Amino acid sequence: MNKNKSGTFLVGSLVTFAILFGIALLILENMENVAKNVTAPASMEPEAVQERIEPVAEVTVGEPPAVEAPAAETETASAGGVGEKIVSSVCASCHAAGLMQSPKIGSADDWAPRIEKGIETLYQHAINGFNMMPAKGGRADLTDEEVKAAVDYMVSQAQ
Ligand code: HEC
Repeated sequence: MNKNKSGTFLVGSLVTFAILFGIALLILENMENVAKNVTAPASMEPEAVQERIEPVAEVTVGEPPAVEAPAAETETASAGGVGEKIVSSVCASCHAAGLMQSPKIGSADDWAPRIEKGIETLYQHAINGFNMMPAKGGRADLTDEEVKAAVDYMVSQAQ
C-alpha cells in the first residue's frame, strides 16, 4: 500500500516535471523565434550609435595645436596675419556667434561701445579676462602680443 502510494507519487511528479519542462522548452523556443524576427531598428546600426555617442568636442591634452609663431616685427593685425589666425582658431568659438553676449566679430554695433573704452583696455581685458571673457580666450599659451594682434584684428573687422 505504502509502496504503491509512493510509486504513484513518483510517477506523478515525473509527469509533472516532464510537462513543466516541456512548457519551459516551448517558451524558450518561442522567445528564440521572437528574437529572430525582431530586426534591430535602423537607429541601432553601429554607425548610427557611434554617431550619437561621439563626443561633442575633442579635447587635446598636452601640446596645444601650434599657433604659427609671429614673424617678429612684421606681424600686424592686417588680414592674413597672426591676429586673424588666432581669432579664427581661438576667439571665434565665442565671438563668431556672439556667445554669452560677447561682441560679435564684424558687428560695428557690438564693438563700438567696446572700442570707446580704448584699445589698451580691450587688450587688458582680452589678456586678463573680463566677466565671461576668459583670459586670453582660455589659451594661456598665447603671448600677450598674440592676444593683442587678435584684438586688433577683431577691432579692425568691426570698423
Ligand atoms: C569662451 C568664450 C570666449 C572666447 C574663447 C573669447 N572671448 Fe572675448 N569675450 C567673451 C565674452 C563673453 C565677452 C564679453 C564680456 C563682457 O562684456 O562682459 C568678451 C569680450 C571680449 C572683448 C571686449 C572686452 C571689453 O572690455 O569690452 C575683447 C577685446 C575680447 N573679448 C577679445 C577676445 C580675444 C582676443 C579672444 C581670443 C584670443 C577672445 N576674446 C576669446 C567670450 C570669449
